[in-house]
Amino acid sequence: MSPSPSSTPLAIELRGVAKTFGSVPVCRDVDLAIAAGEFVTLLGPSGCGKTTTLNMVAGLEDCTSGDILLAGRRVNELSPVERDVAMVFQNYALYPHMTVAQNIGFTLRMRGTPRAEIDRRVKDVTTALELSHVVDRLPAQLSGGQQQRVAIGRAIVREPRIFLFDEPFSNLDAALRVKMRAEVKQLHRRLGVTSLFVTHDQEEAMSISDRIAVMNRGRVEQFGTPEEIYARPATRYVASFIGNPQIELLSGIVEAHEGGPVVRIGSELVRLASSLNTPAGRSVDIGVRPEHVRLGSGTLAGRVRLVQPVGPSSHVVIEWDGGSLIAAQPGFCRLQPGEPIRAEISAADVMVFDHASGVRLSQGMPRAN
Ligand SMILES: Nc1ncnc2c1ncn2[C@@H]1O[C@H](COP(=O)(O)OP(=O)(O)OP(=O)(O)O)[C@@H](O)[C@H]1O
Ligand SMILES: [Mg+2]
Repeated sequence: MSPSPSSTPLAIELRGVAKTFGSVPVCRDVDLAIAAGEFVTLLGPSGCGKTTTLNMVAGLEDCTSGDILLAGRRVNELSPVERDVAMVFQNYALYPHMTVAQNIGFTLRMRGTPRAEIDRRVKDVTTALELSHVVDRLPAQLSGGQQQRVAIGRAIVREPRIFLFDEPFSNLDAALRVKMRAEVKQLHRRLGVTSLFVTHDQEEAMSISDRIAVMNRGRVEQFGTPEEIYARPATRYVASFIGNPQIELLSGIVEAHEGGPVVRIGSELVRLASSLNTPAGRSVDIGVRPEHVRLGSGTLAGRVRLVQPVGPSSHVVIEWDGGSLIAAQPGFCRLQPGEPIRAEISAADVMVFDHASGVRLSQGMPRAN
């Protein structure tokens, strides 16, 4: 989604936001600009500051420094209720003694909404979330997925300006998680409410988001569309966090070679794009995604070490003197461990990162982010 025109205020904006617990900094220099209607995910490993960032947007935590703006208005001093955001947590926090309908209608009752209107809005939400047949049950009589939908229903019924989700699917089994992703994405398409979602699951983030902010130790390392962060990661960290199987990272020194720069990995040479313009002698890490390794012919000579079928594809580990790579092959692969194999990697597909800083060296033009 493109950023909103300057006349429309951003739905959520973080400007230089930092958070310190005691003397420990957990969020640093967080800048995020989220347009109205966008679905944005904070993605990163455990402890990188995702929940803390979300809580600061919700008003559940103060910022140590920096500003938070909602719809163009600074809200640092406003309470969670005044911010008009609805939050869905990992543990659904349903009231155990209330039925589904009572749980969903609870905040409307607290606000003194007329009975008929509560009934109508609860009915709309339970219909949309396919909970109509369980409205009279207690939470303990529901499956995990149904409980999570009740928690989402409770957030939707308030018709907030913003939805905040903190790992809402992490208590569900794998199949249900995938189903809930699709449901939340469709719901977002239908309601168009600006959403900020937290997960440590890169595949979940890729599948559900308009844009993803990849966090690393309290900082946003890259903020971009799923395609940008997958195909054009700003750093080695982002490249290795996104993708399954992981990108293969190999360290080496750039050498000048007839036909363009190369990196020697053990006994083999991996060719780099000549537009990369990186001098010989530079220490780099090269990154190769498994789908970019073509097996069968090519300049790289190795042996098959392992074949792991995963259904739609097989992951083939190939090794040679001093190096190894994973290649993704479609379908079930018949190669046997120990077999000699040739491989080809197109120079244009090799990502190159400065070894010391981890920053990606872009090809031909200055880095876009
Ligand atoms: N109230 C607190 N007091 C002190 N330290 C805290 C507090 N809350 C969080 N932290 C620390 O701040 C860091 C970031 O925590 P946060 O909960 O934001 O991480 P997270 O990215 O959500 O991780 P997870 O994926 O495990 O939920 C962690 O090191 C955590 O231990
Ligand atoms: Mg968390």
